[in-house]
Amino acid sequence: MATTEAAAPRGTLQELAKRHLWMHFSRLGAYGDGADIPIIVKGDGCYVWDDHGNRYLDGLSALFCVNIGHGRTEVAQAGADQARDLGFFTTWSYAHPPAIELAARIANLAPGDLNRVFFTSGGGESVETALKLVRHYHKLTGHPNKTKVIAREVAYHGTTMGALSATGVTALRAPYEPFAPGGCHVPNTNLYRLPPGYGAENLAEAVAHRIEFEGPDTVGAVIMEPVQNAGGCFTPPEGYFQRVREICDEYDVLLISDEVICAWGRLGHYFGAERYGYQPDLITTAKGLTSSYAPMGAVIASDRVAEPFLDGTTSFAHGFTWGGHPMCAAVAMANLDVFEREGLNEHVRENEGAFRDMLESLRDIEIVGDVRGAGYFCALELVKDRDTTKSFSREESESLLRGFLSAELFRRGLICRADDRGDPVIQLSPPLIAGPEQFEEMEAVLRPVLEEASRRMLHH
Ligand SMILES: Cc1ncc(COP(=O)(O)O)c(C=O)c1O
Repeated sequence: MATTEAAAPRGTLQELAKRHLWMHFSRLGAYGDGADIPIIVKGDGCYVWDDHGNRYLDGLSALFCVNIGHGRTEVAQAGADQARDLGFFTTWSYAHPPAIELAARIANLAPGDLNRVFFTSGGGESVETALKLVRHYHKLTGHPNKTKVIAREVAYHGTTMGALSATGVTALRAPYEPFAPGGCHVPNTNLYRLPPGYGAENLAEAVAHRIEFEGPDTVGAVIMEPVQNAGGCFTPPEGYFQRVREICDEYDVLLISDEVICAWGRLGHYFGAERYGYQPDLITTAKGLTSSYAPMGAVIASDRVAEPFLDGTTSFAHGFTWGGHPMCAAVAMANLDVFEREGLNEHVRENEGAFRDMLESLRDIEIVGDVRGAGYFCALELVKDRDTTKSFSREESESLLRGFLSAELFRRGLICRADDRGDPVIQLSPPLIAGPEQFEEMEAVLRPVLEEASRRMLHH
């Protein structure tokens, strides 16, 4: 609505939001007459407030992001302080102290020989970068046909055209095909609903079967989250990643650990791979790296992956203007200072049991079929019949999640995620500073809402 007059746009925030803001992954049609867009105006610790002054427990860390909690002005201030010295300079053939220091710090924290850090502006860019790096690496090492990537069903790896070929959620893929070729999928580690022909002990074999099926000389990488988010916090069975690692080695396939969510304390360690004791060739990350006080992501590469790029005239012909932005890097450093100072990884490890116990205590509610996850990253799966694990139909799930649960949980002051990219789940992923007081508050909302959901869905 460009006009020649520079008039300030008129209307309340609500009206302006409805008219101008294109919210991501949102049904804009849901906010027609009457229904308000939630407008969050303030955050402090584990809580946020909307524009009417209502307080909410942020049980999702603002989409798995604000790991150290809201309102840490000193972390944002580190960005402003950096701007006094150098507000921006590019890392295209230049370096600056914040990017150098952060790269060295990340390399020091990352497992094994993951020593080389390529900065991005977010998770999707990190995945996109890793996928291109895999192709380039294999071309440089004499395997130009190793271009395919194996991911898992229902996994979310981002929305750019490359990352989307790894994303295994049909509804997010279908409207945008064709995208970068080469994405193939294997069953995930949904232990509540194991795929036919597999048990927990041999799930990793699906990766080997797929590599054989595709042709080993065409497969470049396997990409997996330590705990898969979409579908509802699928943890790996014992030995799963060790076997995936062996398979990758056997077929000269790189293992990408997509830790956009699972790094930075979410599972009680700096990296999810640490928790499950495996060594990836690449880690992709974002979100909690800065606790999202500034947008930043990274790909962390092993010495082996970086090696072919270190000599002669070769360069990784890839980059983003803002990769390693000095203000964002300074914010990331301040964020990691908070982790160290407050022992946040230890705090999660000490309190995850209490978090889990609270969720387990909800199993007496008829609609709760499964409780799963790790660290501060858990899900409840909602089912129609607990004895048979029968799930809800698409229509029932729609009416359960969008017709009732999401709005009711929010109305009662709990932000969490009611999701049905797989079967219907409620996901909880609070800031890492949360403790028993917040778990009690979650229960005080979840219990009555789930009881009511049971009545509506199972006994109407
Ligand atoms: C595992 C994983 N990979 C990639 C992404 C994409 O990250 P972004 O939204 O920052 O592009 C996400 C986002 O949630 C994610 O969870």
